[in-house]
Amino acid sequence: MKDLIITNKILNWYDINKRSLPWRKKTSLKKKQYYTLVSEFMLQQTQVTTVIPYFDRFIKDIPDLETLASFENRKLLKLWEGLGYYTRVRNLKKAAQIIIKDFNKKLPDNFLDLKSLPGIGDYTASAISAIAFNKPFIPLDGNVERVLKRYLYLKNKNQIKKENLIKCKKVFGTSRRSNDYAQALMELGALICKPNNPDCKICPISKNCKSFIKKDFILTKVKKNNKNKYFLLKVYKKNNKYLLIKNDKFNFLKNLNIFPMQELDSPKNFNHNFNFKMSNMNMNIKIENNKMIKPIPFSYWIDPKKLKKYTLPTFTKKIVSYLENYL
Ligand code: ADE
Repeated sequence: MKDLIITNKILNWYDINKRSLPWRKKTSLKKKQYYTLVSEFMLQQTQVTTVIPYFDRFIKDIPDLETLASFENRKLLKLWEGLGYYTRVRNLKKAAQIIIKDFNKKLPDNFLDLKSLPGIGDYTASAISAIAFNKPFIPLDGNVERVLKRYLYLKNKNQIKKENLIKCKKVFGTSRRSNDYAQALMELGALICKPNNPDCKICPISKNCKSFIKKDFILTKVKKNNKNKYFLLKVYKKNNKYLLIKNDKFNFLKNLNIFPMQELDSPKNFNHNFNFKMSNMNMNIKIENNKMIKPIPFSYWIDPKKLKKYTLPTFTKKIVSYLENYL
């Protein structure tokens, strides 16, 4: 009975306060499924406000699965440029091709079939199951985890382990409006139960929230194991243009255009001039100006004044801007 009450309180709050997001618009079932697939891929590592313009541009150019499955890679990458984690877009296209070939052009509604698609793990499979197919899944994204930790006052290491959170999420109960409920929980985390200043005064479930009762909203920090890595980045400049190469060497930014680089193993006296945080590493970069000796295969000269013309990862653009402004 208690579950039902929380569920209704959260849904009532959501009905009044939800943001109007492009993938939430009322549309045909088929479009809803496609929009959910695309938005969930984009939202995997990226915040809602960043995703909105990318989603709109993507849907305008690639309105359905069939178009996506045969869309030219170069243009696809341009639509994703700046969103980061580019493996997502490659997987998204592969997933579209598999859906067309093996699932009769229909996004599968079964959790395991969804999980069999490239780029779809537990989280995305449950988000799609709930949002596109109204199945009673509660995807645990960062926002929902925060609500759960605060609501149950989960603070110690064992309590905040993923397996325990998965068990504990039962406290949220389920709703026949599973698709709204999954998003309502995410929205509650994003708009009210914010990391730093939760707005408990207007929270629909504060009355039963253990953190609210204890007046302690501090969350236990989960240590991110971001490894320090060291790179020597080589700048070749000719006629005011920089040389880039297609990256077939590193696992990050695969097949994208980067400056030639070399990873160094625990170098001594390494003075980096540039630092960049990538998904799971902290990149310390030393920039070295070099003279061309012989041509480098698969390389391109880019004009820093025409950066917009090229499809480049943010990482490369930041280096160009650093070189232009500080060196
Ligand atoms: N994060 C992941 N999926 C989301 C969604 N559908 N709405 C808002 N935030 C999200």
